[in-house]
Amino acid sequence: MTELPPGTAVYRRGPEGLPEAVRSRTERLPPPGSLHLERFRPPARPDVPPTDGAFEAERHRTGTPLHVPADRTLLDVIRGTPPNAPSSCEQGLCGTCETKVLASTPDPHDMLLTDEERETGTTMMICVGRSRSARLTLDL
Ligand code: FES
Repeated sequence: MTELPPGTAVYRRGPEGLPEAVRSRTERLPPPGSLHLERFRPPARPDVPPTDGAFEAERHRTGTPLHVPADRTLLDVIRGTPPNAPSSCEQGLCGTCETKVLASTPDPHDMLLTDEERETGTTMMICVGRSRSARLTLDL
């Protein structure tokens, strides 16, 4: 594939390296807005340093305390304390697990929230989000 006719829309779904492979084999890229990518995992966000340590959280509705070790997600830990929380992609891409944050500062790690939502810290995707505070209180 070296040239694309005018009006062509390109759809690609795959792992992170696929978009670059498409670009390297296409001399003339489609105009902005006509290249559609679906990644199997979110790209790294260089503007957000990771906070991968352990933290504490609380399910506000039940008062259940949660310890989230560095090697587990908040969603994993919540699954052990019914009622369960909905989820789908578990990669911060779909929004199914979005949860309201009642207190403290979340560390989002997802690809959905706007910059404003990240700044206000009132919601998070619990499948990938972590905490910048010692204890996070969730509307669950
Ligand atoms: S399950 Fe898809 S964003 Fe969390």
